[in-house]
Amino acid sequence: MTEAVHTRRVFSGIKPSGGLTLGNYLGAIKRFVDMQGQGFETVYCVVDMHAITVWQDPTELKHATRELAAAYIASGIDPDQSILFNQSQVSAHAELGWIFNCVARVGWMNRMTQFKDKAGSNAEQVSLGLYAYPSLMAADILTYHATHVPVGEDQKQHVELTRDIAAKFNHDFKVPDFFPQPEPIIEGPAKRVMNLRDGTKKMSKSGASDMERINMTDSAELIAKKLKKAKTDPEPLPDNLDDLKGRPEARNLVDIYAALSDQTSEAVISEYAGAQWGRFKPALADLAVDKLSPISTRMAELMDDPAEIDRILAKGADKAAAIAEPILAKTYDIVGFVRSR
Ligand code: TYM
Repeated sequence: MTEAVHTRRVFSGIKPSGGLTLGNYLGAIKRFVDMQGQGFETVYCVVDMHAITVWQDPTELKHATRELAAAYIASGIDPDQSILFNQSQVSAHAELGWIFNCVARVGWMNRMTQFKDKAGSNAEQVSLGLYAYPSLMAADILTYHATHVPVGEDQKQHVELTRDIAAKFNHDFKVPDFFPQPEPIIEGPAKRVMNLRDGTKKMSKSGASDMERINMTDSAELIAKKLKKAKTDPEPLPDNLDDLKGRPEARNLVDIYAALSDQTSEAVISEYAGAQWGRFKPALADLAVDKLSPISTRMAELMDDPAEIDRILAKGADKAAAIAEPILAKTYDIVGFVRSR
């Protein structure tokens, strides 16, 4: 139904909350690039309003917003082909977010595992915004009537909640098909890139040690060092993925290799069947440096001209608003808000 009624439109976003990791690159940005020119309208966002659900230093937030925009562009997002902007410049996100706060149920929010992980034992002290975050994320997606949402596995539950919010709105206001049912697109070997020191934990920007993640701004030397020092086990690589069960660190490095080289993990394991780490890790380090260094070099060049980044974001925000505002206006009408000017 969604496909028949709505334009095929991709929306996704990343928080500018300090350092971008290889997880963000392989699980999100690289896949956003791959979806350009594939018969979708593509809308990519720097979700600065999501970032402030936890404290951000204002000067740092501006820097991280521009740096994330630079990362998108350096990785291959073309601002003429895709819409690239930061969330706070398009007020429809916040406005629809409020309406969705009134559609979503507290019980639904209570089931969000990411909130539980982030709040931990401190749930009484975290911001109300952190709790309501998935409702703003639903607004991000639905204010564009987006149909496809490429994300890493950790965001699946939030996209499912978005579908529930869309369905409840459509049902409560008797507007079948007004909001689409967006599909989470969670594909490829890098759905969940793991920590280099503990293969049972996700690679994240906030992990305690810098050695457990690759940052998109790391130098070639540091990328190679981190991968060579990544935790593994004494066994050589097997000739099939099943035999990597129970070896999370080994599986993670194979998946990273696969994602960086645009192959399946099956293809990588057959190429390296029987290889010792002394052979595989340097090959992986070379590949990673080869793919990531040009991106970090380009990011640094772009960051030398922040005014140009701001111009790109402003243009993107205008294009985004041109899609979002009519959808918001129609939503206001459906909800029963009087618009007399
Ligand atoms: P964020 O900023 O935490 O992460 C951005 C994207 O990177 C993916 N990702 C990973 N993928 C694979 N392995 C990893 N280790 C890894 N770490 C992060 C995330 O899955 C995500 O796709 N709530 C979102 C941002 C958001 C959003 C949206 C996304 C706000 N509104 C609307 C899609 C649509 C978040 O916090 O992502």
